[in-house]
Amino acid sequence: MAVALVGLPGAGKSAVGRRLAQRLEVPFIDSDHVIEERIGCSIRDYFEREGEASFRDLEQAVIAELAAAPHGIVATGGGAVLREANRVALRAGFHVIYLRSAPEDLFRRLRHDVKRPLLQVADPLGRLRELYDARDPLYRETAHDVVETGRPTVATLVNIIVMQL
Ligand code: S3P
Repeated sequence: MAVALVGLPGAGKSAVGRRLAQRLEVPFIDSDHVIEERIGCSIRDYFEREGEASFRDLEQAVIAELAAAPHGIVATGGGAVLREANRVALRAGFHVIYLRSAPEDLFRRLRHDVKRPLLQVADPLGRLRELYDARDPLYRETAHDVVETGRPTVATLVNIIVMQL
């Protein structure tokens, strides 16, 4: 059993992934968490100090490692699909599920979140719309299934995913 969750920040990748892993009794791996353990600081601080390109290099290395020995449920960072190498590695190693939400729903969930460096801008909803337009095709290209996460609770989403596996 090896499932990777992709989608924009706030789509529920970590919350759904953790609950799904409990339900299936397999390990849960958060790729952002693996990166943070490796760099010894938060991704937000790392972004500020080293810039996005350096973070993307680290992210690519971690995704390549995870995809080389796929197991459990992996929650990826929202930008993991930006690099073709990641899209190919994820799709080849995992059953990939795109958790899709409209930008307005993501905004509602993330309004008070200060951890996401890409959303620390004057117009976060506008930013989410841009990210959605740029990335929705990449998530679809990477994923084997698309699950809508607008309304349902985490428990319902887990049930939907379990039925699809
Ligand atoms: C990013 C999303 C973050 C994290 C980093 C970059 C992005 O993960 O990887 O801040 O480019 O969308 P979440 O999707 O868990 O917020």
